[in-house]
Amino acid sequence: MSSIPVEFDPKSIESKSAPEARMYHTEVTSNEPMTSMLANNPEIYFVPPKRSSEWGHWEFKKGSYYDTTTGSKHAYWKDKDLPQPTKNIEQLRRDMVTWGYCKVEDAMSATQVQVVRDRVLEQAEGERLAGIAQRTQSGQNINCCVNKGLCFEAFIEQHPDIVQGGPLLEQLITECLGPGWICASLIAAISIEGGVPQALHQDQGMVAPDSRHPMSINVLTPVTDVDEINGGTLIIPGSHVALSEAVRSGKPVGKLPPAINLDARAGTAVITDGRLLHGTGINQTGTPRIVMLNGMHKPWMRQQENWMLSVRPEVLARASSKLLQRMGFQAFTGGQTNEGHGFGASGRAGEAAGATVGFRLAADGGTYERVGELGPNSTEEDLRAPFTLREVVAWARAGGKSAPLGIGEAARK
Ligand SMILES: [Fe+2]
Repeated sequence: MSSIPVEFDPKSIESKSAPEARMYHTEVTSNEPMTSMLANNPEIYFVPPKRSSEWGHWEFKKGSYYDTTTGSKHAYWKDKDLPQPTKNIEQLRRDMVTWGYCKVEDAMSATQVQVVRDRVLEQAEGERLAGIAQRTQSGQNINCCVNKGLCFEAFIEQHPDIVQGGPLLEQLITECLGPGWICASLIAAISIEGGVPQALHQDQGMVAPDSRHPMSINVLTPVTDVDEINGGTLIIPGSHVALSEAVRSGKPVGKLPPAINLDARAGTAVITDGRLLHGTGINQTGTPRIVMLNGMHKPWMRQQENWMLSVRPEVLARASSKLLQRMGFQAFTGGQTNEGHGFGASGRAGEAAGATVGFRLAADGGTYERVGELGPNSTEEDLRAPFTLREVVAWARAGGKSAPLGIGEAARK
């Protein structure tokens, strides 16, 4: 047996890979814009995660980024033209571009708000009783809401039954992200008294920090009124542009304007640009503050919630084509193909050539037959095995009209 060439030896590779020899070393190890943002804005610092016992009751740290108020009350911001709640699409577009957020007034009606708020509070109590409550620095999160009530399935769809302003939200999000966007997650974030402020961050994080348009969008929909007293989200208006421009120009982030607390009535959908600096505020009241966090992003980005595994079979079986697409069950050439099914597809809702839900439902039913090792000596039985791929492709070629292969039926039994 011939010896392995020395160029492939890990020690040899390491000896030729000092930082200065590497490709793109500066770019892939950069923490900009956060490094210069923190260096040049010392009042913005990382708050160590502590619960109320150590944090103590609300104590203002004078001059800290979270020692702030709403835009209309803030000495720096009160005369600026910050976003106000509106249903006017032209104004909402201007607010998004200029400030990195906008407020869609009455996106949920009072009745819709109540349905969601009641379900969130019930679920939160149930998860506490079950001993599986997911505590955060701010309080409690309800994750994977899609499994926890029909209202949340409709919420992800932005269906007018639960989000009356859904069509307007979808238009604005599509303008920001381009067609084919998918959802990251739907989380109910409950903030309670004694929580710590969240460090300011960009949801888009290290994904294209220099991007000229958002790679992700987060729709924050309070289902309780929010303000500077009960933990309205901390944001720095306009930071979406300041940060991305600094990275593009290779310059440090300079002095930023101060943060404000978002204030909004329950049912207002606050659309935020993934590049906007923001963090959870501090609830100084004894009443829980609830915000629905619904992220969306480009279809090639990994989702926050792994819906491929986590969605309940019965939810999948009844899911609309739009809900399936938003959860990531529509493959396209560049993403999420399943055993090759989805190559050539565009990722759009209801497209049989990219539908992957049949595989998951087959797995749920214990009937998922994956294609394994085959060759010229394979037996007839091996070659004729009921591969799920074969069935999904046949279903798609037939138009993919019915529920995928009736597999949903099997899964529901
Ligand atoms: Fe965030």
